[in-house]
Amino acid sequence: MSVKVGIDQIGFYTPDQYLPLADLAVARGDDPNKYLIGIGQTKQAVIPPTQDVVTMAANAAEQILSDTTKSEIAMVLFGTESGVDNSKASAVYLAHLLGLPTNTRAIEVKQACYGATAGLQIAADFVRVHPAAKVLVIGADIARYGLHSAGEVTQGGGAIAMMVTANPRVLTLDAVSSYHTEDVMDFWRPVYRTEALVDGRYSTNVYLKFFETVWQDYQRQTGKTIADFTAFVFHLPFTKMGRKGLRQILPTASADQQASLTANFEASQEDNRNVGNLYTGSLYLSFLSLLRHGQLQGGETVGFFSYGSGAEGEFFSGTVEPTYRKGFAEAKIAAMLDQRTAVTVDEYEELFNEQLPNDAEDVRLPVGTEHARYYLAGRRGEQRLYRQQTTC
Ligand code: HMG
Repeated sequence: MSVKVGIDQIGFYTPDQYLPLADLAVARGDDPNKYLIGIGQTKQAVIPPTQDVVTMAANAAEQILSDTTKSEIAMVLFGTESGVDNSKASAVYLAHLLGLPTNTRAIEVKQACYGATAGLQIAADFVRVHPAAKVLVIGADIARYGLHSAGEVTQGGGAIAMMVTANPRVLTLDAVSSYHTEDVMDFWRPVYRTEALVDGRYSTNVYLKFFETVWQDYQRQTGKTIADFTAFVFHLPFTKMGRKGLRQILPTASADQQASLTANFEASQEDNRNVGNLYTGSLYLSFLSLLRHGQLQGGETVGFFSYGSGAEGEFFSGTVEPTYRKGFAEAKIAAMLDQRTAVTVDEYEELFNEQLPNDAEDVRLPVGTEHARYYLAGRRGEQRLYRQQTTC
């Protein structure tokens, strides 16, 4: 019998400030219901200049690591499209910050919001061959579109850290999956830009078309239908997007199942609604949200739709383990989200503009009020200064 492989633990980090989107709507002259209902977002994480993808990933990973598990990590796969260096992988900085052993592979994986899924699948294949190995998979990003842009309401940021092992406590992954790639210009970010370029409405249509394509192909490969699933989780750039995805297939389910799939979707969008787009971590935040807010017992089949602009889509599935609640730090995650403070639109704009500029100047950042263990203190001699405090 082949070994069970999948997600053993999940960590999540998002910074300690958020922007209430009803306030942003008023400031931009929009009806708040467009943001709260039409887009489906209530709060948006505001990323201070002292956090980047490396520090956010470290803050997420430390939630799930012990000295023992650190020493067992064979590989770090860091999915991001907000990398801090065009050559050196964020995973190398991360491995150093976390004090991982040096006999570790550390690689960055990029394909827009699909990167973490590529990492997860590569990790699972690796563990199927090396069942004693543990692989740390990261999805970390800062979603930036620009002040006053149409995408502004769909910003956010944070990091997901997943430990992939044999005999996992959270989710056993099925080996079968369906994937699809096409060269599409719906969203991209040339190397000289800090904000993404996006053809917004077109991107939503491509997302839905890719979902249809991989869902059909998955059913053809497996013979499964919607009746085999307890929940579907989606890449959520904003929660309405996943809701549209679910609505696309819901009519093929019985009335009872439509109600339960919808209830599970509500659970799976709750945390994303209050954090915003994490880009490549969003699908996995949605899964974590389902685990936190849903009523799962274990044994349920969950379908995952991953989408990364440019574009790549994948549909895969897994079975929730009865031990899933042992795989994440519920109290810490709830406290982190509850203890965030709201910023005004003016404060958000200031923080947005304070992001470390893309130049060679030395910078000392205003640190001292950090609630996070890992943070960025500035830049000297064209090198980022990563720090950790011991009191967090
Ligand atoms: P927009 O043009 O400002 O919004 O852009 P809209 O006019 O399309 O309205 C949005 C919804 O609000 C509509 O609902 C309106 O009817 C509704 P829908 O028809 O779609 O169901 N609405 C209202 N509802 C209630 N009360 C009201 C009201 N007014 C309007 N008063 C858009 C929206 C998402 C296009 C924009 O924010 C954007 O460009 N976002 C960024 C792109 C994006 O997130 N695309 C998603 C698919 S691509 C993807 O997921 C990949 C990505 O994560 C990147 C990666 O892979 O790296 C983005």
